[in-house]
Amino acid sequence: MADAPWWKSAVIYQIYPRSFMDSNGDGVGDLAGITSKIDYLVDTLGIDAIWISPFFNSPMADFGYDVSDYTGVDPLFGDLDAFDSLVARCRERGLRLIIDWVPNHSSSEHPWFVESKSSRDNPKRDWYTWADPAPDGGPPNNWIAVFGGPAWEYDDSTGQYYLHSFLASQPDLNWRNQGLKSAMLDTLAFWLDRGVDGFRMDVVHFAMKDPELADNPVLDQPETGYKSLGNEYDRLVHANDRGHPDIHPMLREVRSILDRAEAESGSAKYSLGEIHLLDWNEWASYYGADNDELHMPYNFAFVNGPWTAQWARNNVEELEAALPEGAWPNYVLSNHDEHRLVARLGWDRSALAILMLLTLRGTPTIYYGDEVGMLQADIPPERQQDPWGQRVAELGRDGERTPMQWDATPEAGFTKPGVEPWLPIVDPDGLHNVAAQLDDPNSRLEFYRRLLAIRKTSSALQLGDYQTIHVVPDEVFAYRRSYGHEVVEIYLNMGQSPVDVVAEGSLLVSTDRARSGAVRNPTLAGLEAIAIIP
Ligand code: NOJ
Repeated sequence: MADAPWWKSAVIYQIYPRSFMDSNGDGVGDLAGITSKIDYLVDTLGIDAIWISPFFNSPMADFGYDVSDYTGVDPLFGDLDAFDSLVARCRERGLRLIIDWVPNHSSSEHPWFVESKSSRDNPKRDWYTWADPAPDGGPPNNWIAVFGGPAWEYDDSTGQYYLHSFLASQPDLNWRNQGLKSAMLDTLAFWLDRGVDGFRMDVVHFAMKDPELADNPVLDQPETGYKSLGNEYDRLVHANDRGHPDIHPMLREVRSILDRAEAESGSAKYSLGEIHLLDWNEWASYYGADNDELHMPYNFAFVNGPWTAQWARNNVEELEAALPEGAWPNYVLSNHDEHRLVARLGWDRSALAILMLLTLRGTPTIYYGDEVGMLQADIPPERQQDPWGQRVAELGRDGERTPMQWDATPEAGFTKPGVEPWLPIVDPDGLHNVAAQLDDPNSRLEFYRRLLAIRKTSSALQLGDYQTIHVVPDEVFAYRRSYGHEVVEIYLNMGQSPVDVVAEGSLLVSTDRARSGAVRNPTLAGLEAIAIIP
């Protein structure tokens, strides 16, 4: 246990900084707000690390994922002093701090892009990807932006197109340019020097494309699977616009910055790449052949799917089989790009999913507000703030980014009384908030607290091996976690009807509060999940 780096046993909690806690009463969350809630995170909830989505200077076209200064704090969120105070508070409380890093694209208002766009012979021209129009004057190739429309924007003044995999106001950085590369690597070093423990890396596999800018193959039928975007993006095989093999040497350079900081500080550093890939082997390649690239590519397998026992078991077994020797898995159920967990799964199935998340082998990430079962906000099309929602209402992400609900007041304790938060509060019955749930043994918050506390005292759950338990009814996904002599068994009835399982031991936790004491060949209620010590 003592030898394992913190990121193996940690539970990560994702904070969307606009929506966690507003300290200055402008209706938008900020860094000082986060600092004021560190005790909640450590003592009340019991998590080990936070990942904060971008708080850097930004015109906010994509709410911070369009960075105009990689080493600054947007005034909306505070300043570098506020960041330093946050680091200090995290240190005091033993909480690890992970920040977001957006390597694929900057804002079009970043001074680098302003220079790059100013003329064809500007020294920073190649810091971004520029290309001549096709013979018909149209875009240089058939690449499509994730948010829809061509991935190319024409610049009148210089007569070329620039590449943007997301919004036109998010031009893609050119990692093949040495100057850009070293400037971006310096931004990592900047935050490491300021005391961060790691980075979540936004769509990092997009950073390397085909240098020849070849067309993507076109499908007859749109691709389905994870993130069907419902636009022309799905009609392409993304063979050339992301994940070029040169991404691997680039990630090794990124890793060497982290490793150096680790050696200098004597404290483990960590990288978690946002990599949406369905092919396990391709996904696993981002650990690096010698575990020398990302510490982990994010595993989104449980974000969408049928929630059957076979599907869940396959997800875990395929992941375990694909992992390179010595690599460590991770799991996540929700984030700022996905509808709220309870909206996707319903109340009971989400409880089962949470028990699974916190008992599988791997580092779990929890999305803020899920611990009180925050609901999905229904934002009318005309009130959508998210650029995606403004284009395709159903894809809007505002609904999962609403302010954290701390209490049942009209502002939910998120901002000062009388201030209107940037997005609505979604607590119709006044029960989906921390104050209402704390000390209620039947609440979602208490369920999380109990699970997190159990995990913290169990080497088997934090670091133990994984083994599928095969002799169970079809509807049940069951597994064993073991570390030395310590063993925990988990049985998840993923069906709606009661089932009998052959198992014996003392109950650690169940999604059914009424269950207690010794367990002997129990009948699990529909969607009931239990963990036992056999
Ligand atoms: C992935 C982020 O999670 C998402 O919120 C963002 O819009 C895109 N990357 C573009 O940066």
